[in-house]
Amino acid sequence: MPPSNEANQIDLFNLAEVATPTPAVDFDAIPTSAAVPIPPGTYETLEPIVTHCNQCHRCRLGETRTHAVVGRGNPKAPIMVVGEGPGQNEDETGLPFVGRAGQLLTKILESVRLGDDDIYVTNIVKCRPPGNRTPEADELAACRPYLIEQIRLVDPKIILLTGASAVRGLTGDKRGITKIRGQWIEWEGRLCMPVLHPAYLLRNPSREQGSPKWLMWQDIQLVRQKLDEIRSS
Ligand code: URA
Repeated sequence: MPPSNEANQIDLFNLAEVATPTPAVDFDAIPTSAAVPIPPGTYETLEPIVTHCNQCHRCRLGETRTHAVVGRGNPKAPIMVVGEGPGQNEDETGLPFVGRAGQLLTKILESVRLGDDDIYVTNIVKCRPPGNRTPEADELAACRPYLIEQIRLVDPKIILLTGASAVRGLTGDKRGITKIRGQWIEWEGRLCMPVLHPAYLLRNPSREQGSPKWLMWQDIQLVRQKLDEIRSS
């Protein structure tokens, strides 16, 4: 075969040679600075968000993470659960809510028959804040576009916001979680239910009426009822 034809052959053992479609995202430009916007519609699927978050340095949390923790669960789930940020177990595994708080979250959801098919789980910040401190306002803002894209792609009917950081990071509402838990909030035409964070419930084990666990039980039943209503309408 003449050399010119040979040069046109795709080397099947070297996939890097196979032409790939131009990515919709400029992976080099966006992660470097929170000043560079990530416009809605940037991502066509959830997978590139994972790749992207693992390269991201839009805030200081990118310097200390092991893995970015983007999401797990049904990518078309009717309910999206939004937590505060990854802890140590999540940073090590790259999966949200896999530690003790996550196990309690699973039990809470299962208590109203919500399982893997019903849920997509994520966090307001995708990288672990050192020492599990509360994420700061600029970190929430830097990471927010990823969440907005996840919400657009998963398109949940209900968003469960666990803890004050999740409420603040998504809606900007700075009220305390004990004031607003259990009351539906409408955000961008979507129903959001603020609830106490499962880690807070771990520190308050009482099940007495009025206790954090009891309040969570009330709130999660509202979520179950709303999902049933939406499904039957
Ligand atoms: N707490 C959170 O808010 N998110 C996790 O992923 C784990 C614990």
